[in-house]
Amino acid sequence: MTMQPFRRVLVTGAAGFVGYHLSDRLLHEGVEVLGVDDLNAYYDVGLKEDRLCRLHGREGFRFVRADIVETDRFLELARGYSPDVVVHLAAQAGVRSTDPWPYARSNLNGFLSVLECCRELRVGHLVYASSSSVYGANRFAPFREEDPVDHPVSFYAATKRSNELMAESYAKLHGLPCTGLRFFTLYGPWGRPDMAYYSFTRDISEGRAIRLFNGGDMLRDFTFVSDAIEAVVRLLGRPPGGQETVDGTTAHRIFNIGNASPVRLADFVECLESEIGRKAVKELLPMQPGDVPVTYADTSRLRATVDYAPNTPIAIGLRRFVEWYRNYHCVADSGLSLPGEVSSPPAMMA
Ligand SMILES: NC(=O)c1ccc[n+]([C@@H]2O[C@H](COP(=O)([O-])OP(=O)(O)OC[C@H]3O[C@@H](n4cnc5c(N)ncnc54)[C@H](O)[C@@H]3O)[C@@H](O)[C@H]2O)c1
Repeated sequence: MTMQPFRRVLVTGAAGFVGYHLSDRLLHEGVEVLGVDDLNAYYDVGLKEDRLCRLHGREGFRFVRADIVETDRFLELARGYSPDVVVHLAAQAGVRSTDPWPYARSNLNGFLSVLECCRELRVGHLVYASSSSVYGANRFAPFREEDPVDHPVSFYAATKRSNELMAESYAKLHGLPCTGLRFFTLYGPWGRPDMAYYSFTRDISEGRAIRLFNGGDMLRDFTFVSDAIEAVVRLLGRPPGGQETVDGTTAHRIFNIGNASPVRLADFVECLESEIGRKAVKELLPMQPGDVPVTYADTSRLRATVDYAPNTPIAIGLRRFVEWYRNYHCVADSGLSLPGEVSSPPAMMA
């Protein structure tokens, strides 16, 4: 895999948690970014706008509010920009919702829109977000990219696995170089309020009970967002060439982006309690549909390719998150209200 230079990157989902961090990092590196996002209300839109405020006005940054499912408009935007690389992060995220339609719309139709656009513009590299959830209830850990992934336990996971197959077909049929990123529970500043670490922080701070599914007996490979971004940035300039596979060659590769160091949920909560300075009130509940008992990334492929793998210990990452959280919600200590309450139970995975 050779390193190829890139100057202009189109980032879908730029107002989202990962899209914001990636855009921020690319701008720091002097790379131009066109951010696209529909700013939907899946969670607090104010948080998405606040992320964008930190990007607006920076040299090399442009943002357009658009829905990627509207293929003609999206293609028009991309054509006017001529990106070297497209990083596709826009998606209906979260494993818990029982309504499949928003997932089908943004994750299947939206992904096809992005593939078609990249094919038509002959984009040099499409990098897209998949998810550790594709491993479903696989029992053999750590999870390796070549493990079977045919038994999703959520519809979200099914859409992410579908994306991998769709990318594989475009790489084969049209020679579109594609890289899939199986993210393992990313967390950090400017994170997602629908995820457990965020809502736990709010609830512990306010003295409200937190719900621990499977009694907290779950292992999660929590990955600090800046580590994931480092891995992604290193991959951007390395579009896959024609890899030999049993079926011929393909210009498609998939990478686990995880910390390779799973933590028990109960230990995670303990760490959060010590950062917040308050004990959690715990409500122990059974396993939820869509959840899996363990996620654990084997990152040897990533390390061999970019000479890096995420490694921030949870204690350090959570300290950074709680510092940001206090600052953002203007609390010196415990006790605050979070705008935009989340109605469904928080997701351990995304
Ligand atoms: N955060 C994690 O732990 C995690 C884990 C695994 C996979 N992922 C994947 O990584 C990607 C980024 O996740 P995130 O945590 O930043 O999520 P996020 O929800 O914060 O960001 C996604 C962004 O995409 C936008 N979006 C959704 N549908 C759109 C559409 N049709 N058109 C335009 N914009 C649209 C949303 O408004 C949002 O700002 C997603 O694909 C997600 O599935 C994230």
